[in-house]
Amino acid sequence: MAEAKYPWRVVWITGASGAICGEIARRLAAAGVTVAATARPSGRLDALAASSEHIKAYPADVLKPEELRSAVAKIEAELGPIDLALLGAGMYAPFDVRNIDLDGFHRSMALNVDGVINGVAAALPAMLARNQGHLAIMGSLFGYAGWPGNGSYGASKAAVINLAESLKLELHGTGVDVTVINPGFVDTPLNAAYDPKKKLFVMTKERCARKILEKLPKRPYEIAFPMQVEGFLKTVRDLPRALSFPVVRRFIKAMGA
Ligand SMILES: NC(=O)c1ccc[n+]([C@@H]2O[C@H](COP(=O)([O-])OP(=O)(O)OC[C@H]3O[C@@H](n4cnc5c(N)ncnc54)[C@H](OP(=O)(O)O)[C@@H]3O)[C@@H](O)[C@H]2O)c1
Repeated sequence: MAEAKYPWRVVWITGASGAICGEIARRLAAAGVTVAATARPSGRLDALAASSEHIKAYPADVLKPEELRSAVAKIEAELGPIDLALLGAGMYAPFDVRNIDLDGFHRSMALNVDGVINGVAAALPAMLARNQGHLAIMGSLFGYAGWPGNGSYGASKAAVINLAESLKLELHGTGVDVTVINPGFVDTPLNAAYDPKKKLFVMTKERCARKILEKLPKRPYEIAFPMQVEGFLKTVRDLPRALSFPVVRRFIKAMGA
């Protein structure tokens, strides 16, 4: 029998009806992995489930912990233990310091942070009971450093990067691994409102999904790409603030944004 391409039998994905996680779901299904796909009920979610016998929809709102707990219980009863939980539901809201969109800020924090911990709280107990499992959390390179226009998104992604660090430390020795996935710009509807002049090294959702699936089976703590943007933002993060702010301002000016 040919060796399986991926080390998971059942993968649960939130944000599965979206661009990046939908692409990941399709790639996993094409390799024979069983995918439990979660998003709010929609034609998009139904179409994803209809696209492969290996994908089954488990509609739920990640802002509602009890819906996620029920979805996980149903998935494990119907499909078997979840080997990998990929928590990918997320959103971007523009941030203008002269006209702060409080609703956008609160919605971003809720979806990008509460939505993730709700997913962790739903999937983790059974993984701990089995002494095995893998939690993968979608962050963003913009969680590494503050950036103009990113006050809502960046703050929420910084929060999940910090959360992932805590989880990783606390879950050491339990058999449950944690990966934080921090891509740069991906060409998806999520960032349609972002100033195109400020988007650097934009990649397709196919490239993004491929890169994630190349690395995730090795269970690294962090997956971050493209390396040019990762390197720049990590350098900015680590510089003394007296240097980092002028560097970012110059960079933004040079981009003509
Ligand atoms: N695009 C980028 O440039 C980029 C870069 C780095 C990281 N990321 C991260 O990657 C992830 C996916 O991004 P994407 O660009 O593929 O986004 P997307 O296409 O907009 O997909 C977002 C997904 O989140 C789901 N969702 C939204 N609210 C939900 C809720 N309350 N309950 C359940 N699901 C909900 C959406 O489904 P429904 O609305 O149908 O429920 C959809 O499936 C996000 O976490 C994003 O922050 C994206």
